[in-house]
Amino acid sequence: MNTALELTDIHKSFEVGTVNENHVLKGISLTIQKDDFITIIGGNGAGKSTFLNSIAGNFPIDKGYIAIDQVDITRTPAYERAKYISRVFQDAKMGTATRLTIEENLAVAWKRGKKRGFARGIKESQRKIFKEELTKLDLGLENRLKMEVGLLSGGQRQALTLLMATIVPPNLLLLDEHTAALDPKTSEMVMNLTDRIIKEKKLTALMITHNMEQAIQYGNRLIMMNNGQIVVDVSGAEKQQLTVPDLLNLFKKNSGQAVTEDALILG
Ligand SMILES: Nc1ncnc2c1ncn2[C@@H]1O[C@H](COP(=O)(O)OP(=O)(O)OP(=O)(O)O)[C@@H](O)[C@H]1O
Ligand SMILES: [Mg+2]
Repeated sequence: MNTALELTDIHKSFEVGTVNENHVLKGISLTIQKDDFITIIGGNGAGKSTFLNSIAGNFPIDKGYIAIDQVDITRTPAYERAKYISRVFQDAKMGTATRLTIEENLAVAWKRGKKRGFARGIKESQRKIFKEELTKLDLGLENRLKMEVGLLSGGQRQALTLLMATIVPPNLLLLDEHTAALDPKTSEMVMNLTDRIIKEKKLTALMITHNMEQAIQYGNRLIMMNNGQIVVDVSGAEKQQLTVPDLLNLFKKNSGQAVTEDALILG
């Protein structure tokens, strides 16, 4: 089998036993194959981030089973899962250390899944790899290895975050609206880069986006969530031919609700 990730009947509630009790994930089951690039779409509060957080192990799930490469990680703590899972968030600051230089940030990322600790010196062989990888970003960062990351623009910093998340290829890459805070042009640059890295490194990836066009254009499978459940799951040729109106129709049919494009994109 080529299964990268297996999720069975995942449930998660917050603030249990209070008036604010909220059953956010209501039985999510999904089998993800190696090299799958899955886009996830859905309205605000649908449970998308909670879903990725439950895979990363931010909190224990209430019910269900999670396995990566056939290894049960349902009760594995987040720091252990981080050996297999990389994440990129909307805020580029979350993935990089402002006061460290580009090469120091990359050196930290290089250690992922290896023994903890911060290497004082960066070896020349390592620096060569960093330069090669940075050159591929096509942003000129390979000439600015000693520059503090805090001086980079949002787009440059998010590109660096992506590189850090993938320089040691993870078993699973989780992207939570990682282009949402960028202007349209920069967002497109980071999205193209994302697609290229995922293809080149043959990564298995899950990407949340509020942009339906993006969700349709990228990846080989699209999932739509509503009210804590998966209501649309399309892949292969069906996904390739999908249009925004198709997607809205599918949503209506499978959730019993009507939805406007604006409601999904803007929440
Ligand atoms: N740690 C938490 N404690 C309490 N409630 C939470 C927690 N995390 C998420 N929630 C609640 O779970 C629900 C789903 O939130 P989630 O962030 O998963 O939605 P989302 O689909 O990612 O939405 P958005 O598109 O706005 O990012 C929301 O009602 C949110 O308030
Ligand atoms: Mg979210």
